Amino acid sequence: MSGKYATETLGSGEGGLARAGEILRGGGLVAVPTETVYGLAARADDDAAVARIYEAKGRPSFNPLIVHVSSLDAARQLADFSPEAERLAQEYWPGPLTLVLPRRKDARLAEAVTAGLGTVAIRMPNHSVMREILSSLDFPLAAPSANRSGFISPTSAAHVLASLDGRIDAVIDGGECERGLESTIIAVREGGALEQLRPGPLDFESLSEAATQGGRIEAPGQLASHYAPGKPVRLDVIRSVEDEFYIGFGEVAGDCSLSLEGNLEEAASRLYACLHLGAQSEKPRIAIAPVPDSGLGRAINDRLRRAATPAG
Ligand code: TXA
Ligand code: MG
Repeated sequence: MSGKYATETLGSGEGGLARAGEILRGGGLVAVPTETVYGLAARADDDAAVARIYEAKGRPSFNPLIVHVSSLDAARQLADFSPEAERLAQEYWPGPLTLVLPRRKDARLAEAVTAGLGTVAIRMPNHSVMREILSSLDFPLAAPSANRSGFISPTSAAHVLASLDGRIDAVIDGGECERGLESTIIAVREGGALEQLRPGPLDFESLSEAATQGGRIEAPGQLASHYAPGKPVRLDVIRSVEDEFYIGFGEVAGDCSLSLEGNLEEAASRLYACLHLGAQSEKPRIAIAPVPDSGLGRAINDRLRRAATPAG
């Protein structure tokens, strides 16, 4: 332990969840498993609690947070739902979809959650642990991914501790995240146009169809460097060199394989675990096999490009 706090590791049974609820009610920080990645949760209606998230992550204050809710009713108290937004929520919640919607003036949210924007990002997660916690609380939870800002996202409690031990109050160990990639983020603009802000487990074409008769695609507006393992990353590598930690896909196993069978869902769920192993390895560089750029492969390649972009 190196930080200010003695981080507790909690089980995902009744006792662990009760303790997590107690910490959250008191304005503390608890890392919680979701189906995508582990989130660093704090009560979204409390300025001090939200400020602690930014501090623990070293996150720039202009980068707003996702608010997690347990029901569509709770979401409607925070944002205005257009018919398109309503259809998307009905179809995909609970699940790996975040909606960016106009923030209601009377929404009970700390100012810093939305970083001063007129919109708010909302998601109803589909993981039994996160859902149980949310439904036991009478406020929503702000939760970015539970990693230091800019580093690899966490898909296990060990990943969370590697990044945030001593900086947060607790982590609930709920095993590995099933999806392994952060939620697809869709902004629903005035007039019902959809803008994909981050590709993710749900593909944009299906979402557009569900929301409207064909949405409008706009370029994602995320930072170029993210998910960075702290050493050089080479992409689309068929044959690695000796000092590279090789992350394989399909036939070539490498030091760690995303999926020996070339299955994209498995590759998504293992992506961050392989990057964590590469980061911890003694080898000074990481090389990654080509991953097909279709379907879920597009979201995987989005993360890989950012991991390969040097910070700064
Ligand atoms: O799967 C996920 O979405 C995970 C789990 C924990 O729910 N959360 C997650 O949070 O990935 P984070 O903070 O790592 O990424 C949230 C993204 C950021 O890129 C942020 O800029 C964007 O959402 N965002 C949040 N509020 C927004 C808003 N009002 N308008 C546009 N983008 C927003
Ligand atoms: Mg993140």
